[in-house]
Amino acid sequence: MEKLEWSEDFELGSEPIDSEHKKLIELVACFEKELHSSDAADLDLEKMTQLAQELVATAITHLSDEELLIDNLSFMPPLEKMVHKQEHAEWRERLLKEVSSLLSSPSDLERRARLSNGILIARNFWDKHFQKVDTRLRIFIGQQKVLTQSH
Ligand SMILES: [Fe+2]
Ligand SMILES: [Fe+2]
Repeated sequence: MEKLEWSEDFELGSEPIDSEHKKLIELVACFEKELHSSDAADLDLEKMTQLAQELVATAITHLSDEELLIDNLSFMPPLEKMVHKQEHAEWRERLLKEVSSLLSSPSDLERRARLSNGILIARNFWDKHFQKVDTRLRIFIGQQKVLTQSH
């Protein structure tokens, strides 16, 4: 799997959204690194579980912050706003469900399997939602800036 790293190309032009995306990417990369650098048996399950919880908490806060931004983008079509938020709702549910299954795992073996699965979900969130949906916001953020500057 290709290493995940923040790049200026990811910037959408709006704070704190860019900082939150950066933080998310760092957490996903850290999670991946920990998961792949140790043997399954040596994996620090407590540390990994905490990391997963932090990742999900950061993602949930981020989804809400981004929705506030979306509400204020005058040039973004209402339908696209709705579809974007709908996708957030699905991700929110998926992430919360995943972390609760992780926390209620009955054995270390299951917890390990949940953690491996969790990182795939986190990676998917980045690849499918950020790369394909969030990057669309760049256009509307740019238009919004022009609008506020001309007033
Ligand atoms: Fe989004
Ligand atoms: Fe986002």
